[in-house]
Parts: sequence; C-alpha cells; structure tokens
Amino acid sequence: MQETIERTGRDFDAALKSANDSKSLDEIRIRFFGRKSGLIPSLVNQLKDVPKEQKKAVGDALNKLRDRLETALKEKSERVAAAEASRKEAADVIDFTLPAHRPQLGHLHPITLVRQEMEMIFREMGYSVDPGPEVETDWYNFEALNFTPDHPARDSQDTFFVDVDKLLLRTHTSNVQIRTMERLKPPVKVISCGRVYRRDEITMRRSPMFNQAEALLVDKGIHIGHLRATIEHFVRRLFGESARIRMRPSFFPFTEPSAEVDMSCIFCKGAGCGTCSQTGWMEILGCGMVHPQVLRNCGIDPEEWSGFAFGLGIDRVAMLKYDIPNIRTLFENDLRVLQQF
Ligand code: DAH
Repeated sequence: MQETIERTGRDFDAALKSANDSKSLDEIRIRFFGRKSGLIPSLVNQLKDVPKEQKKAVGDALNKLRDRLETALKEKSERVAAAEASRKEAADVIDFTLPAHRPQLGHLHPITLVRQEMEMIFREMGYSVDPGPEVETDWYNFEALNFTPDHPARDSQDTFFVDVDKLLLRTHTSNVQIRTMERLKPPVKVISCGRVYRRDEITMRRSPMFNQAEALLVDKGIHIGHLRATIEHFVRRLFGESARIRMRPSFFPFTEPSAEVDMSCIFCKGAGCGTCSQTGWMEILGCGMVHPQVLRNCGIDPEEWSGFAFGLGIDRVAMLKYDIPNIRTLFENDLRVLQQF
C-alpha cells in the first residue's frame, strides 16, 4: 500500500508537469480526485483492509499525499488560469495599425445620370430647369392642358387621387408647362424632369412611378420645323450622331398638331431586330405644337405667340442607353447592378 501511495504521487507529479492548460488540469483532477473512480478516493477506500498495526502510518502517508496533491493542483490551476486570461486579453486588443475598412462610396443612380445629361443638353440651348410639384391639382395636370372633365384621354392616365378636392399625383410632367406659362411671360424655354405616377401594373417596361422629361418653348414665329430640329439635336446628343428620327401623327389634348417620335433602333441601327420588333424604329416621345386653348388658359395670346412641347420617359431612355431589360432593376437598389454605371 505504501508503495502504491508513492507511485500515485510520482504519477501525479509527472502528469502535472506536462499539463499546461485548464483542460488537461481538469482531466488530472478527475483522474486523482474524481468522486467515483479517482485514485485518491479509492486509496482511502482501501484503508479499511490495511492491517491494524499499519493503519496509522498508511493513513498518515495518504493524508499527506492528498494534501500535497491538492495544493499542487490548486497552485498550477491558478497559474494556468491567469496565463489563459492574459492571453485572451491580448487577443482581444484592437490593433490600430491594421488598415481600415474603406467606407463604401455611393455614386449617382443611372436615372439621375440620364436626367442630368438631358438637363445639360437643354441648358446648353438656353432652357431653364424646373422640376415642378409632384402633388398637383386637377387644373394643372388636366384641365388647363385641355383635358375637359370627361375627356376620354384621361382614361389613358389612370390617376392616383390624394383627396376628394382633386389633389392628385401628377400623371405627367406636362403640368410644368402650365405653371411656367402662368409664372413667366413669353418667350419661355423650360425643361422639367421628375417623377410621375399612374395606376399601372408592374411589368418589364412599366411601373406605377416613373420619370419623365418635358420641354416647352414659346416664342414668336415658332413652327413645327423648330420642334423637329430640337428633338433631332436632343436625340443625337443623347444617342450619338447616327441616330435618326421620324414623326408620326398622333393625338394629345394639349398639342395641335401632335406627333409621336420614333428613333432608329440603337441596337440594330435600323436593320430590324428583336428589341424593335423588326421595324428598325423605337418609339421614344410624344410632342406637338402647343394648343391655342392651352396658351389662352395661361393668358397668352395665340395670335402673337406659338410654341412646341415634348415629353419622354427618362427610365426608358436609361434602359435603352444602358441595355437594361427590366425597369424594376432601376428601383431595386442592387449595388451589383448600380455600380456598373
Ligand atoms: N404628357 C404626355 C404623356 O405623358 C407626353 C407628351 C406628349 C408631352 C406630347 C408633351 C407633348 O409635352 O407635347 O403621355
């Protein structure tokens, strides 16, 4: 028994020497002091079988061993715990010398880029820029533009009404025509770019909110030749010198005559492809000579003054210019898409 006690002490010393973390110290604690099969408790258990005359000596030796091992284990455990704590602290320290994360820089949205480009082209021609209000009255959005209350053309601009007093979300930027002509005496030249709203289903090409650009010019002796030349210049600045346009008769209540303008397809250069339905042309804007009644509604004498106006979708131009097939892409704010422009 004495010998077993000594061996146990030596085993313990060897094990303790090579244990350098709390996990192996824990294993030692279980091996020597574990309640069920720990070596020390089982030695204590064997004490009852020791012959009487040896009992005291063996008991003393066992007590000594237990005390020594307990103290040694406690000391080493404390040292290891302290070392582990300071290692952890060192790992948590912030290293100020590491390179910082760069903040993500934002940039302009493709619609903004196209809008700014359009505004610049018109500024160069002496137009002023006025976005106008998005919440509008029936007068500016419809009535003054010659849409009488029951005019069927209102149907094509399915409207969001804000309240029963006929406040609405503008369905086009043409409201700025009236606001400009009321505010300023001719000659006037203005371009208005901004958001417009219609109760549309969301499709590849349509969304209930979209962006329009509107140009208005009123002066003396203005005729349809000025309108055509201005549009041609605008389209060529935007899409390149090879772009061609054609005008088709159309109808808008606030212009007479009215026309729709097609541009030679930018993808096939007029040869015919899937995007232009094999026609070689794509429709891009509506235009016309300002209706005499619209001039009168704004206190301008149509005998003295004449003008032209046109309007187009900015989103659609952005989609064509950047070859974006789905309008939703422009509103989803996916950086992987937006960072390409
Ligand atoms: N406001 C029209 C629309 O949203 C577009 C338009 C057509 C604007 C002819 C004009 C114009 O200025 O002359 O459908």
